Amino acid sequence: MQPAPHVSVLLNETVGLLAPAPGRRFLDCTLGAGGHTAALLAAGAAVTGIDRDPRARVLARERLAGHADRLQVLDQTFADAAEGLAASGGTFDGVLADLGLSSMQIDDGDRGFSLRDETRADMRMGDGCAVDAIGLIDRLGESDLADVIYRYGEERLSRRIASALKRARAKGIESAAGLAEAIRGCVPGHQPRHPALRTFQALRIAVNDELAELERLLAVLPRLAAPGGCVVVISFHSLEDRLVKIAFKTQQTRGRWSEIARRPVIASDDEVAINPRAHSAKLRWARRAA
Ligand SMILES: C[S@@+](CC[C@H](N)C(=O)[O-])C[C@H]1O[C@@H](n2cnc3c(N)ncnc32)[C@H](O)[C@@H]1O
Repeated sequence: MQPAPHVSVLLNETVGLLAPAPGRRFLDCTLGAGGHTAALLAAGAAVTGIDRDPRARVLARERLAGHADRLQVLDQTFADAAEGLAASGGTFDGVLADLGLSSMQIDDGDRGFSLRDETRADMRMGDGCAVDAIGLIDRLGESDLADVIYRYGEERLSRRIASALKRARAKGIESAAGLAEAIRGCVPGHQPRHPALRTFQALRIAVNDELAELERLLAVLPRLAAPGGCVVVISFHSLEDRLVKIAFKTQQTRGRWSEIARRPVIASDDEVAINPRAHSAKLRWARRAA
């Protein structure tokens, strides 16, 4: 099945903050399907786009082929790329990070991100991961696995779930759907959301080292923003949003930003009606003095 195209979240708000125009240069840390970048390019700006996922890079290059002269695509993780760019003194009129997974990654069917996937629970976004989700479950002791599920999934039943995952692995279960079923079997009562969702989030965050990636990016963002430049980070869960909020506040106190978002920008009811993914999105921005 052809994966559903990714619908960019908070697109108008992002473009409004970044103010793309001919001659302006932007860094898109999370190219994905190229939706935000397409809007920047359409306004005449130049974009350096990063994605660790080879499939996303192919898709974005195809979609943005008409603007290839103003688009550079980097195949690195955004932390590695951003640190490299900062070390070489590169600055941008704006930087965007639209965190997490794209709809294509979830819907791909053979990557194990979705609870329904009958294939191996892989969950690697792409380049730079030491181990996939099955490898992680096997490598960690039950107690360490429970810690990961608790810390990155904020799951209070982490110990019980870690034990169920270890039992499932002992039976040779390796599909995402099989693991989701094992988790459902150990959580009592009816749940409004699938009881494996928080654990899948935790495994994905751990496999892709997502919070460390974000912390490293946040640390160099002030150096990447040109005078007057704006940085925009869109996050989808409280663990990420907390890191962004604290980093921007701390950096502002140190004089790195002249202005930061006082509260997160969230999607309108109209946007959420069209794109339910936007429901949990929180956009925070910070600006350097001109
Ligand atoms: C939510 S999607 C971005 C969608 C894009 N803004 C659009 O409008 O089409 C996030 C993308 O960021 C990529 N990504 C996530 N973490 C990354 C990291 N640490 N380094 C590089 N790419 C990353 C994912 O592979 C995914 O393609």
